[in-house]
Amino acid sequence: INIIKVNNEQQFNETGAGIIASLLQSKPRAILGLATGSTPVGVYGKVIDLYREGVVSFKQASSYNLDEYIGLPANHPESYRQFMNDKLFNHIDILLENTHVPSGNAVDPDKAAADYSELLENAGQIDLQLLGLGHNGHIGFNEPSDELQGPPHIVTLDERTRQANARFFKSIDEVPTHAITMGIGSILHAKQILLMAKGADKAEIVAQALKGPITTQCPASFLQTHPNVVVLLDQAAGRLV
Ligand code: F6R
Repeated sequence: INIIKVNNEQQFNETGAGIIASLLQSKPRAILGLATGSTPVGVYGKVIDLYREGVVSFKQASSYNLDEYIGLPANHPESYRQFMNDKLFNHIDILLENTHVPSGNAVDPDKAAADYSELLENAGQIDLQLLGLGHNGHIGFNEPSDELQGPPHIVTLDERTRQANARFFKSIDEVPTHAITMGIGSILHAKQILLMAKGADKAEIVAQALKGPITTQCPASFLQTHPNVVVLLDQAAGRLV
């Protein structure tokens, strides 16, 4: 595991965007695995800058997002599809039809998860999977549990996860209770993984994930089994590693 600790927000965003851009430069048809949440927003902002400067193009690239809430219409401001369009896709030259987010408002969510699984299998190997890190060690929405699932599936969100995400909604009651997420197997299948975390409140879980035992109670600890993981941290999140 290659740990990169940076000193400020600007370096964080430049480093993350640089990893994405150099992949696209060497492989224009790259398949990206993308994450939502607060952590990658600045990285996506810097990617947009690099696109505008002509440094990188996404014309031939495709993307697969980690997860999506169940029960929000696709155009709901907090749906992850909307988030990705707003924060990245609408500002770069990726073709929207080449961007994929699980369908959170399907009549049959289990079928939507199975469909996403099939889509991923047909896509082949993701070249670079971006990940944020939940305070409880979740990646995607794979929450701590006695057992973890490999393929995309439906999850019940932890109360802590719903509370953490309530900041984006009018109240916690509006935060969905379920989501579709790539499984641990889908995530570990990627050629390279970029895990990103910022802030003192992530220091403890970063240390558990990278240095603690590999356990289903900390899903991110399974990243220790992957041969090509880069971890991008600010000083606060990296204090214990
Ligand atoms: C987002 C996702 C989540 C977040 C995690 C951290 O697609 O799957 O695992 O990465 O909850 O969120 P932030 O970055 O908001 O702290």
